[in-house]
Amino acid sequence: MKIMLVGNGAREHAMAEALKKSPKCDELIVYASAVNPGIRDLASIYHVGNLGDMQAIQAFADENKPDFAVIGPENPLADGVVDILALIGIPCASPTKILAQVESSKSFTRELLAKHNVPGGPKFKTFTSTDGMMEFANELGEIVIKADGLKGGKGVHVMGDHFETLEDGVMIAKSAVEEDGKVVIEEKFIGQEFSLMSFVDGENVVDMPPIQDHKRAYEGDTGPNTGGMGTYSYPKNLPFLTQKDVDDAHEITVQTAKAGKEEYGEFKGILYGGFIAVKDGVRLIEYNVRFGDPEAMNVFVLLETDFVDICQAIIKGDLNELDIRFSKKATVCKYAVPEGYPTSPVKGERIKIGELPESVKVFYAAVNEVDGELIMTGSRAVAFVGIADSIEEAEQLAQKAVESVEGPIFYRKDIGTQELIQKKVEMMKEIRD
Ligand code: GLY
Repeated sequence: MKIMLVGNGAREHAMAEALKKSPKCDELIVYASAVNPGIRDLASIYHVGNLGDMQAIQAFADENKPDFAVIGPENPLADGVVDILALIGIPCASPTKILAQVESSKSFTRELLAKHNVPGGPKFKTFTSTDGMMEFANELGEIVIKADGLKGGKGVHVMGDHFETLEDGVMIAKSAVEEDGKVVIEEKFIGQEFSLMSFVDGENVVDMPPIQDHKRAYEGDTGPNTGGMGTYSYPKNLPFLTQKDVDDAHEITVQTAKAGKEEYGEFKGILYGGFIAVKDGVRLIEYNVRFGDPEAMNVFVLLETDFVDICQAIIKGDLNELDIRFSKKATVCKYAVPEGYPTSPVKGERIKIGELPESVKVFYAAVNEVDGELIMTGSRAVAFVGIADSIEEAEQLAQKAVESVEGPIFYRKDIGTQELIQKKVEMMKEIRD
């Protein structure tokens, strides 16, 4: 088969490896916005173009005629890449434009889920003007402001984290209405966040292992928000979750897929729920319609089932006939990022990765290769995933690997450590006792 991949981050590097590993994949062709040396080495055709240019993506696909495509990042999904490829007969293991709004529009998702009585939602209201904002904020007490649109992780403002008073929150909501014409104000949840990503074929929902991401740049979950500095997963469940928490999150995704199907047609691809375990159960913070980054790295190193088979089952709608397995290991992923990231990262600087053991996987993100050397381009540079029987060993492996990098980078030493995980366990114990 000839398979097309869109995107060029570390997430797509993991996807590319999983596709290429399949005996069914003869050729991997890639449409990317920059050269990722890891993906380029796996691809028979590697085209650098604009990920926002739907006509160019369609023309690339039309010229190369892949059997199917799979899309990495959210922006082309929100721009309708799946619909534009469908017009030339190329199926995708990713959602259509209308359903990609589950990620690209916070109001779309909250309203869809509320209409279908999907559990786990907050008290919320969508505002198209400033009328009634302050009254609603007062009613909730503690609020979250969500801009309506893709904002690269910068559209969500949480009281206590990003602003202190209801008045400040309402000011943020007012600017969001001015910018996008819409904003969601919702109740703030207190608890521990986790990611549960699921393969969805329109009907069937198959979960991947639960993962915890670390969005803040600095140790102890401090500093500015980033795309995600690192992640970990356990051989079974995360230690601060019960099986019921995971089952409840799964049920929310099942009901979301069903609601989407009833209103807009079958959702195909990845539903990545950003959930939070709270005092009395699980709540949904948001959905994404693609693999998480870094979460994709944790799951792909564990995935035992052929990813091409999974993509084909998503397209055909028979995921229920596939036995999707993940190896029962712990994983810890740590990103090396350029000094100054995310606000003023150094760019154009050389990095060198040391010798690594086999139980560490390396995925390239924002790095180019010039004369055999890796050069950082300004965003998260390289992800290292330690894979082991225990979280302690996995953390040590990832830590040693990220420490081996020479160059102006930093990373979070605390991700996956017992000390940080224990704090999360104790926090949940305190709010649930
Ligand atoms: N892990 C954050 C994201 O993929 O959006």
